[in-house]
Amino acid sequence: MPSKRIETLCSLLFRADTFADIGCDHGYCAAYMLRRGLCRRAIVTDISAACLKKAEDLLRGYIESGTCIPLCTDGLRGVDRNTDLVLIAGMGGMEIAHILTDEGGFIPEHFVLQPMRDGAYLRRVLLARGARIERDFTFADGKFYDVITGSAAGGTPPYSAAELAFGRENLARRGEDFLRFLRAEIGKKEAVLARPLKEETRRKAEAEKEYLQGVLLGEIK
Ligand SMILES: C[S@@+](CC[C@H](N)C(=O)[O-])C[C@H]1O[C@@H](n2cnc3c(N)ncnc32)[C@H](O)[C@@H]1O
Repeated sequence: MPSKRIETLCSLLFRADTFADIGCDHGYCAAYMLRRGLCRRAIVTDISAACLKKAEDLLRGYIESGTCIPLCTDGLRGVDRNTDLVLIAGMGGMEIAHILTDEGGFIPEHFVLQPMRDGAYLRRVLLARGARIERDFTFADGKFYDVITGSAAGGTPPYSAAELAFGRENLARRGEDFLRFLRAEIGKKEAVLARPLKEETRRKAEAEKEYLQGVLLGEIK
């Protein structure tokens, strides 16, 4: 596997009839699914023809045999709504939410989403649409990444403010990567607070640091 991030994403994928990787770029995850016979067909999409070309090069044999369909498109536009497993990774949470809810978008039967930022926004959109969030945790691969998996139907019991901000599974399981993430964030606040600041900025940074410490200590859930 090219990186621990890709390996983690692949470990969350499972057998599907049609798998789609939206914003596939290199196409590694579709290659993982196809090479292991985990899907009957894979759709690989990218808004950029140059990025899609990388996946087309990697998956040439599957494309020629008709088991992989490349699509240069914006988000889910033109993707079959019956696609039962969809991966959208490596984009901002707002962009992913936009793809799911935009014209042509849909909440897939099963999804694996890996927002680079704005996870809270994406969680809110998924919950508002009645999706069931199954996994929702942080992992480390040089940087810290959030990943959210789930299904279109079934709903999710309401999230607390902290669960929205950080992911339910992180707060419940308090995994080592999540605790490291919190310590790193507290360190960033301390670096800000070490500089000369306007009173209002100082108060805000202190409150944010206190909140993070509350989460780290398990006092805020
Ligand atoms: C940082 S790369 C991530 C690639 C891969 N998904 C991963 O996680 O390693 C983001 C990719 O998403 C594509 N992309 C960005 N916005 C998109 C959109 N609205 N629809 C489809 N692809 C998009 C970009 O062209 C780029 O190839």
